[in-house]
Amino acid sequence: MKKILVIGGGAYQIPLIKRILENGDQAYCVDANPNAAGLQVATAGRVIDVLDKDACLKYAESLGIDAVMTYGATITLPTVAYIGKRLQLPALPEATAELSKSKYAIKKRLAEHGCNIQGDFFEMTSPKDADDHVFTYPCVIKPSDGSGSKGVCVVNDASELNAAVEFAFANARFGSVYKEDMIRGEEYTVEAYVCNGTTYVYAIIKTTFEKTADGEIVYGHRTPSGLPAEAESRISAEIKQAIAALDITMGSVNFDVILSEDDGKPYIIDCGIRIGQNLIASHIVPYARGVNVLDNTIRLALGETVDAEPKENRCIATRLLIYRPGTITEIRDMSGLIGTNGIRDVVMRKTVGDVQREYQDKSDTCGWVITEGNTPDEAEALAGKAKHMLEEYIVITPIGKESTVDEGKKPELLRGRGKASV
Ligand SMILES: Nc1ncnc2c1ncn2[C@@H]1O[C@H](COP(=O)(O)OP(=O)(O)OP(=O)(O)O)[C@@H](O)[C@H]1O
Ligand SMILES: [Mg+2]
Repeated sequence: MKKILVIGGGAYQIPLIKRILENGDQAYCVDANPNAAGLQVATAGRVIDVLDKDACLKYAESLGIDAVMTYGATITLPTVAYIGKRLQLPALPEATAELSKSKYAIKKRLAEHGCNIQGDFFEMTSPKDADDHVFTYPCVIKPSDGSGSKGVCVVNDASELNAAVEFAFANARFGSVYKEDMIRGEEYTVEAYVCNGTTYVYAIIKTTFEKTADGEIVYGHRTPSGLPAEAESRISAEIKQAIAALDITMGSVNFDVILSEDDGKPYIIDCGIRIGQNLIASHIVPYARGVNVLDNTIRLALGETVDAEPKENRCIATRLLIYRPGTITEIRDMSGLIGTNGIRDVVMRKTVGDVQREYQDKSDTCGWVITEGNTPDEAEALAGKAKHMLEEYIVITPIGKESTVDEGKKPELLRGRGKASV
């Protein structure tokens, strides 16, 4: 029985902790929050701040662990790397893990290593710093430590600059934001995996994110991307170059890439040294490529031999189950639907009694449906059909109050580019 220490006990770590226990091994967890879900689910745990590397190391030593890991989070990576180095367990290089804290630092490293970068980019540590720089438009201002598109704003001209800088700083946890050129083109999410010195580009995923004329939010993913093979290889080459530049030696890496409509080049606009969320690593890649990312990642951390080669090439799509606002009063048994109409799986995020708010961000979904088709277009069409079929199974009673958009929060639809329709 192996002892695996999981750094961080937030929701993202739960699939990892559960899987370790299912494998018959022991999962230990650290988190500063005594109520963290991971501490409840794990074999045992300790209330320790995940940023306190030495306290985590001491706990790891006292347990005599066989592996140290994190899953889905990046804030925990430096501590994993620190413990890994000292206990001679597989982990990312410490310098790579440190880079993961700042999107600006990652961008700088990519630029130094010849990856595609358009125009000037720079960091600001106070809104006043904007006075010291020359801005070109359109540009994008975003927090250096951002996630979930929080604080990201497209700036079309000088009149919009101050508000965007303030907005980014208001959402920057560590007080730094950066400017980069806005890239015009289609956006793709790329899920890559590094194992035994090889980089696998598992999936180039097209995101659909739009509001229809009758107000429906259509939000989903599909792979293959539908791009010509030559464009896919340009993206893959850029990803491999970035992974080498960042010295990522193991595990999952998730990228946001825009294929520029101006010069045809792929531009990496975001790199998370972690799995892709939105079911990408947990369902899309396993169904599309026949690889179990979670199991492989546990084995890698234990120093075991891993076969990370993709085995399949299936057309998979997902659709977020975003319905009209209200309280979920009933969820009917959907198990009979799996295997029909291309439906591979339904993953619920909400349960009876939960409120579906009017859509503001990715948390405002009842869940996801995952479909398979003979072509990416067919998989996508089946996902749309399945979403409508499932509306009958997820009974939502409008109550009025929850439909109000929180005025303090800018809806995701109004931010960013590519995923947004405005
Ligand atoms: N330079 C850019 N050019 C064009 N669009 C951009 C640029 N930077 C960001 N965006 C848009 O804003 C979105 C969010 O930006 P980014 O990925 O950097 O932030 P994030 O906080 O990681 O968000 P998310 O978790 O949604 O990926 C991108 O997915 C893209 O649609
Ligand atoms: Mg991103």
